[in-house]
Amino acid sequence: MQFAWGYAPPLVLEAAIRHRVFDLLDSGPKTVQELHTEAGASERGLAAIANALVALDFLAKDNQGRYSLTPESAAFLVSTKPGFHGGLIGHCSQHLIPKWLRLNEIVETGQPVEAVNEETTGGDFFEKFVNDIFPMSYPAARAVVQHLNFKAGAPVRVLDLAAGSGVWGIALAQSNEQVRVTAVDWPRVIPVTKNTVARFGLSDRFSFVEGDLQQADFGKDYAVATLGHILHSEGEQRSRELLAKTFEALGSGGTIVIAEFLANADRTGPVNAMLFAVNMLVATESGNTFSFEEISSWLREAGFVNARTVESPGPSPLILATKP
Ligand SMILES: C[S@@+](CC[C@H](N)C(=O)[O-])C[C@H]1O[C@@H](n2cnc3c(N)ncnc32)[C@H](O)[C@@H]1O
Repeated sequence: MQFAWGYAPPLVLEAAIRHRVFDLLDSGPKTVQELHTEAGASERGLAAIANALVALDFLAKDNQGRYSLTPESAAFLVSTKPGFHGGLIGHCSQHLIPKWLRLNEIVETGQPVEAVNEETTGGDFFEKFVNDIFPMSYPAARAVVQHLNFKAGAPVRVLDLAAGSGVWGIALAQSNEQVRVTAVDWPRVIPVTKNTVARFGLSDRFSFVEGDLQQADFGKDYAVATLGHILHSEGEQRSRELLAKTFEALGSGGTIVIAEFLANADRTGPVNAMLFAVNMLVATESGNTFSFEEISSWLREAGFVNARTVESPGPSPLILATKP
């Protein structure tokens, strides 16, 4: 029974975000009438979703019928907070669920109805999406900064591959004035990267390469290369080629940093990685989720040594490896 209604919670969250329920409650508890006055949506609609959100522990309700935020919704669902994850939820009804509704057909053919791993269709999707996943990766990117612990004063060249919002390069550039970042992404997405980098006041520290990862010229002698949430959409063959190309772009002693939703070695979990693998079936031609064992064997094949996991505040630990 619980799974029969499993599609409902993200849609209730999306409706609440769109009608500013969490934003309005950030200034204090409110009744459904007060929410109606400020949000403009119907009282019946707001009451239904607010009560569902109480049952789901995203809101609390007192004995005068006033709703308030819980610690989780205050941290992650108020649009002005740095940890706001509502952007991702905002894609459910428009971009994610419509593709999943074709799952029966997709399982039949093994192919997506519309793939996001090519620029023609993916560029449009990612142009809207990349800033919405910034808060998912920013804490993990800060953890990499601490782990790498650059020496003060020494120049550090960083290659941010499939940069999207630029989140990995931004966190690294913030850590040290000597960091210079080269961000690579499709031409449709680089303007978004440029805007985000400018918002952080880091434009003079970044250069940009527009192109597909398979064809783009990455340059050479980087100290760090980041691959944030890209291997899953590239699939095994292109990921192996990308790791080999990244190896060539790093200087000796350079570090590769990979963020992924990691599967366990026998592909029995965790649930988020198994479901994301279905998302890759739905949205890409050969995408998947991979295990540390798989990725570290490709890293070895490319020439890297010391493949290791680093715990980070994100969906899975990060994978790091070194170019000897
Ligand atoms: C899931 S987003 C990740 C963005 C960012 N690295 C992060 O961790 O938040 C994937 C990014 O890879 C880019 N991308 C996907 N396939 C690509 C390809 N074949 N060539 C260049 N960029 C690609 C998309 O435009 C998007 O910005």
